[in-house]
Amino acid sequence: MITIKSHKEIDLMRQAGSIVAKAHCLIEEMIKPGVTTLELDQAVEALIRDAGATPTFKGYSGYPKSICTSVNEEVVHGIPSKRKLCEGDIVSVDIGATFKGYVGDAARTHPVGKISSEADKLIKITRESFFKGIEFAREGYRLSDISNAIQTYVEANGFSIVRDFVGHGVGSKMHEDPPIPNYGQKGRGPRLRAGMTLAIEPMVNVGTYEVRILDDEWTVVTLDGKLSSHYEHSVLITGTGEPELLTVI
Ligand code: MF3
Ligand code: CO
Repeated sequence: MITIKSHKEIDLMRQAGSIVAKAHCLIEEMIKPGVTTLELDQAVEALIRDAGATPTFKGYSGYPKSICTSVNEEVVHGIPSKRKLCEGDIVSVDIGATFKGYVGDAARTHPVGKISSEADKLIKITRESFFKGIEFAREGYRLSDISNAIQTYVEANGFSIVRDFVGHGVGSKMHEDPPIPNYGQKGRGPRLRAGMTLAIEPMVNVGTYEVRILDDEWTVVTLDGKLSSHYEHSVLITGTGEPELLTVI
């Protein structure tokens, strides 16, 4: 069941989203060669708790840390560790914060120092595919119009869209209905209505879209070991046309 959020719920989601956005700003300042992904995790956890929120991911299905840090061929759900980031790496950082019972969820991929032109293009196309998708995050369109716009843009630029992981409704729980694939035909799925809140999150690979999970039971990597990038915001379908990004400052 897809829930329609009240004005009060939406306001709490804006507050949760703003904390997530501030955490992403901190990450942007901290990322440089030599920093460990655990240092990023600890700094974000402190920021979230200081803001009166809790890190949504910590303890979720037994997940051990507060953020996900996925480096290079890692797609999503990389676990922060003593691994130092190196010049030329790309790192996807996914952050969730729960404030007064409501969740904000957003992800971004960053370059570490100077990166290859292919990596740079991958990050750019992934971000742009999100914005192509949300052109259809409006009342009257159907869910798969978003999915189709993302897939079409990514594939037109020579990259592939991950199938095995998808976006999701977000609200008092991190994962609510509907599941939101980043691929598929247009004109399918539920019609979008004002008050729906959706975490839209394209995961884009340089090579094959196929992925596998490492023995740590969390880290998702590309099957061919090529690079992957991730971009996500929690988005409100509004009554005025333009969707509202909830995970902004
Ligand atoms: N943003 C991710 C998602 O949409 C975060 C899940 S990580 C987990 O699924 F540890 F919390 F599972
Ligand atoms: Co998400």
